[in-house]
Amino acid sequence: MAKKSKTAFFCQNCGYQSPKYMGKCPSCQQWNTFEEELVMPDTVPAAWSQQKKEGANRSNKPRKIAEIESVNENRSDTGDAELNRVLGGGIMPGSVVLLGGEPGIGKSTLMLELALRLNTINVLYVSGEESAAQIKSRAERLKHQSESCYILTETQTQQIFAQIAELEPALLIVDSIQTLASNKLESAPGSVSQVRECTAELLQFAKESATPVFLIGHITKEGGLAGPKVLEHMVDTVLQFEGDRHMSYRILRTVKNRFGSTAELGIYEMMSVGLRQVSNPSEILISQRDGDLSGIALGATLEGNRPLIVEIQSLVSSAAYGTPQRSCTGFDARRLNMLLAVLEKRGGFRLSLSDVFLNVTGGLKIEDPAIDLAVCASVISSINDISISGKMAFAAEVGLGGEIRAVNKIENRIAEAEKLGFEAIYISKYAVKSLPEKKYKIKIKAIGKLEELIEQVFL
Ligand code: TYD
Ligand code: MG
Repeated sequence: MAKKSKTAFFCQNCGYQSPKYMGKCPSCQQWNTFEEELVMPDTVPAAWSQQKKEGANRSNKPRKIAEIESVNENRSDTGDAELNRVLGGGIMPGSVVLLGGEPGIGKSTLMLELALRLNTINVLYVSGEESAAQIKSRAERLKHQSESCYILTETQTQQIFAQIAELEPALLIVDSIQTLASNKLESAPGSVSQVRECTAELLQFAKESATPVFLIGHITKEGGLAGPKVLEHMVDTVLQFEGDRHMSYRILRTVKNRFGSTAELGIYEMMSVGLRQVSNPSEILISQRDGDLSGIALGATLEGNRPLIVEIQSLVSSAAYGTPQRSCTGFDARRLNMLLAVLEKRGGFRLSLSDVFLNVTGGLKIEDPAIDLAVCASVISSINDISISGKMAFAAEVGLGGEIRAVNKIENRIAEAEKLGFEAIYISKYAVKSLPEKKYKIKIKAIGKLEELIEQVFL
């Protein structure tokens, strides 16, 4: 039999392996993603045959699910309420968490803060990205002190495991998975096969020693996690750190979680002394202003399960050139066009000759249709140059017929507005039925049509 080839082609996007070069990946349909990587000749058969050999005298036998003793969910507190929340209530022993995000967003800062905050257990922070001195100077800025945080600048997994065996850390942080290399493979760090192999080794370590592992992962230009998609399948939890680099707010989102909900969200602010947890996001998202300005409306939205009051600003002005401009930040441009068409048809506003600019403050991107009503209100406010009271919130979807539609979790939205001292909230009259029978301090204004919004707010 011919000797098995030592190289294979891997799709750098999804990790698909092929013995020959291909222009288009049959798995993820991307073009020009294949690169040749060295592979160990018989890695897979070797592991398998070893397993077969061991198989006979292995104690691991199938067991009835009823007979398996349940382990108490022994989550440990991270000392960070936002991080606890996105992890589903703390760190699970033996879990592997992947933290992705654009460069400079604050991944290393978040992890180093975690390492320093947990100052009662040994934490090993392995960095292949920065020197020990760089990490030290960052730690000094963060103003946390820890006697039990260890830094290791190493990229060889075998070397890392040797150090782990000695130190026996209770938490391992790897910055980043793309810098690691296993000497089992000859391909370069960051290649699909290396990322996969190193993750597999860390996964095995985590499960066998019940040590939680946090992996920092790079992100591609398209916004996905770099490296094979299989990476996301292998780990228990995938967190994504997002935000505008020029804005100070950062959102930590759960993309996948075997131990909790993916609808969770943490909010931070990047300060000169590190990341500050933002426990009441609505307060910072509503801009501070003295007088009342036209074109501003406040929408009660949900990010995950978390209610937020966001500020929608719009500016409508007559088009300087023939074609009117429509520009959106933080909101879907097609949705804005649709709402403008509804306003034109049902509200009688002549918008076809106007430029419309719309902005969601705070650098947030909102996909929740419940802010439709706030968008419409802010556009009308700008057209008429009539300001809307800052004590008024909106939470409803607007349909093509100009009808005001009910949105989910309306109680949470109302409760948030009430908590923040709003005086009134406009919702759909179809949502009133689902409200619990209780007395709200906030005035609930139920409307069914766009015309009613115009009458009640602007006339
Ligand atoms: P970093 O954690 O290095 O990002 P990542 O690991 O995701 O690439 O964060 C880098 C940015 O954060 C950098 O632009 C500086 C800023 N920063 C602060 O504003 N305050 C701080 O206290 C720290 C440590 C960083
Ligand atoms: Mg970094």
